[in-house]
Amino acid sequence: MDDNSPGRLAIVGPGRAGTALSLALVARGWTVTAVAGRSPEAESTRRVAVALDARPVPASDAGRDADLVIVATPDTAIAGAAAGLAPSLREGALVLHLSGARTLHEFDDLLLARPEVAVGSLHPLQSLPSGEVGRARLPGSWCAIDGPDSVERIALTLGMRPFRVDAADRMRYHATACVASNHLVALLGQVERLAADAGVPFEAFLPLVRATLDNVDDLGTAGALTGPVARGDAATVAAHLDVLPAEERAAYRALAEAALRLAGREDHAELQSLLSGEVVG
Ligand SMILES: NC(=O)c1ccc[n+]([C@@H]2O[C@H](COP(=O)([O-])OP(=O)(O)OC[C@H]3O[C@@H](n4cnc5c(N)ncnc54)[C@H](OP(=O)(O)O)[C@@H]3O)[C@@H](O)[C@H]2O)c1
Repeated sequence: MDDNSPGRLAIVGPGRAGTALSLALVARGWTVTAVAGRSPEAESTRRVAVALDARPVPASDAGRDADLVIVATPDTAIAGAAAGLAPSLREGALVLHLSGARTLHEFDDLLLARPEVAVGSLHPLQSLPSGEVGRARLPGSWCAIDGPDSVERIALTLGMRPFRVDAADRMRYHATACVASNHLVALLGQVERLAADAGVPFEAFLPLVRATLDNVDDLGTAGALTGPVARGDAATVAAHLDVLPAEERAAYRALAEAALRLAGREDHAELQSLLSGEVVG
C-alpha cells in the first residue's frame, strides 16, 4: 500500500457500501481476492463474490492474499470483524472501515494482535443505496478519511474529495451528515403530508426543492432564504400556524425559528413569541 498502483483487496461485509467501493476499485484495476459475509454460504455473500469474481471465504480468512481489507459491516460489528481477521492479514496490509460515526478505536483489538498492520477509515459522504448505484455516485463525492496517506490515495483514485476530521469532532460530523440527509427526508415527509392536506400532488413541490438546493449552492444558506420569516411577515406565519394540523406545528415552529436565526431576525419580538408558542396561531 505504498504507491498508487492497483492492488488486491478483500471485503468483509459485502453490503451496499462495501460492494460500491469494491466495484469502483475493480473498475480502476484492483483485483478482489475474497468476499466474507456472515458465512461463505450466505446468499448475499455468494452473489457479491460472483459479481466481483472473487472467492467467498470465512471472515477469519479474508486477509490472506489482500493488500487492502475493507471492513464494511454495520458499525456495531466492525471491531469484532476486524479482530477476527487479524491472524490472516499480510504484513503491510491496510484495513479500512467505512463508518462516519466510528473512529480508528474500532481497530484497537486488531492492533493488539497485529500492531504492524496499517488501519484507516474512509467514510463516503454520500448515500449508497446499492452497490451499482453507489459505485456511480462515488466520483465527485466528498469523504472523511483517517489513517495513513495511502487512504487519501485510494480516495483520490476513486475520484473522491477527501478531508480529515479530528477524532474529537467525529460524532459532530456524523450528526451533521444525519441532518443533511435523514432530516431532509423527514422534512420532505412533512411536505408530503401537508401537500395531501392541501389537495396538491407531492411531486409538484420537488422542482422547488431542487431549485432551492441549487440556490443554496449558488448563494449560500442565508442568501437562499426567502419567505415570510425572512421578510419579517408575522401575520402570514400566524396564518400558517392557524391552518396547520396541531401535530405539524412543532416541526414548523422549530424550522421557522432556525430560519429566523439564519435571517438574523432574532430581535423580531412578534415572530419570536409566535414561534415559541406563547401566541397560539
Ligand atoms: N450505505 C450507505 O449509504 C453508507 C454510506 C457511507 C458509509 N456507510 C458505512 O458502510 C458500512 C456498511 O454499511 P451498509 O449500508 O453497506 O450496510 P449493509 O448494506 O447492511 O451491509 C452490511 C454487510 O455486512 C454483513 N455483515 C453483518 N455482520 C457481519 C459480520 N459480523 N461479519 C461479516 N459480515 C457481516 C451483512 O451481511 P448480511 O447481508 O448477511 O446481513 C452485509 O453484507 C457502515 O459502517 C456504514 O456506516 C454506508
